[in-house]
Amino acid sequence: MEAFLVEGGRKLEGALKVDTAKNAVLPILAASILTEDAVNLTDVPHITDAENMAEILTILGCQVEKQGRCMRVHSGSLHGWEMPDRLSKQIRSSIFLLGPILSRFRKATVTYPGGCEIGLRPIDLHLHGLRSLGVQVNEEGGLIHCDGSQMRSGDAYFDYPSVGATENVMMAAVLLPGVTTIHNAAREPEIVDLQRFINAMGGQVRGAGSQTIEITGVKKLHGVTYTPMPDRIVAGTLLAAAAITGGEIELTNAPEGDMVAVLSKLREMGCTIHEEPAFLHLKAPERLRAFGQLQTQPHPGFPTDMQVQMLALESVAQGMGVVVENVFENRFTHAGDLNRMGARILCSGRTAVVQGVEQLYGARVTARDLRGGAALVLAGLKAQGVTQVEQANLIDRGYDHLEDQLTALGAKIKRTKG
Ligand code: EPZ
Repeated sequence: MEAFLVEGGRKLEGALKVDTAKNAVLPILAASILTEDAVNLTDVPHITDAENMAEILTILGCQVEKQGRCMRVHSGSLHGWEMPDRLSKQIRSSIFLLGPILSRFRKATVTYPGGCEIGLRPIDLHLHGLRSLGVQVNEEGGLIHCDGSQMRSGDAYFDYPSVGATENVMMAAVLLPGVTTIHNAAREPEIVDLQRFINAMGGQVRGAGSQTIEITGVKKLHGVTYTPMPDRIVAGTLLAAAAITGGEIELTNAPEGDMVAVLSKLREMGCTIHEEPAFLHLKAPERLRAFGQLQTQPHPGFPTDMQVQMLALESVAQGMGVVVENVFENRFTHAGDLNRMGARILCSGRTAVVQGVEQLYGARVTARDLRGGAALVLAGLKAQGVTQVEQANLIDRGYDHLEDQLTALGAKIKRTKG
């Protein structure tokens, strides 16, 4: 199992271009089967979640070609409507294929996608949304059989603004005659990007980014060449890396307009941030000030995917902080390892109380989930000595060679066989 070896104590400085967003690429890859024409994505990061999604599409019969960072999907030969069990357990995002497969075949079979370290990750809202479009859902023996023969446009209401469930219903409705309205929809920027992508293929989706999305069915979608939006979580993670090391970095291709909550918190901690369209410059103070309170919420609230990185920053800031994780039930998995590095974090349920310390110390720690692993790397950048972060493969799910990105900013980090 590969690990990252991080030598702490170096300020990060320099400039980097932000990769395109994992959480836009995954639903866009799923939506690419809504047309039988070729879809060309001009810039896809080399992350394992995207590679696994491409493998699932291939198993279902699509032709998927990768050339550098370009990915071409041609689903004319798509024949599979049963999601491969082996892969769908491997990545949660396979559930995004439910809506598009139903749209193509009017039937789908999927296994319960793997939960993961941050929570049970149920799919009841996905199934509720599809039932609102007339899909018959039968669950037996861990398999979910969906019969879409009577599918029709309609109204879907979500008790909770689930990102994936919103995207699934959007994709299921694009080719349904009539108007489908999603109420209490998730408002994440990646959903706006999915709307842009679908409309670039000839779809008629309006309202993404607000709590009400309206999809007017069209007969057919055509192929498209498309560049997904930049990754606001990768951008936030790189800013956090500069912040924890007292450094100064510039980011191009940065989705600054989608990062208001994160930039606000970093400024509260004493960072000076200059923003322009698609550009961010951050200069960190010698020592961060504690932000005091942080609560994660659905967008436009503070993003849960940046909570873990901010906890690492808070652990070395001046003062005390309280972090409440309102979105997932188990997203402090890495606090124990931070404490082994000298942090003083007390977790209880969805709340963590942090007493900032002057110094962290290198240790052998283990990534348990994608963002928790990234947070441990950030702590290693600050720690005195060397930190070994095991299970680098979990970090590779959402960061394209994080070690290369951080090295380009002056960090001393390398990948080793664990
Ligand atoms: C997406 O996951 C992202 N993943 C997550 O990013 C992100 O943390 C999350 O949205 C919230 O922003 C992708 O886009 C591939 P949800 P998703 O449905 O769609 C509960 C990362 O690190 N829920 O909004 O699964 C769920 O358990 C990942 O990049 C139900 O109860 O998020 C969670 O507590 C992690 N029933 C909450 O809602 C459902 O049917 C938010 O889930 C669906 C979700």
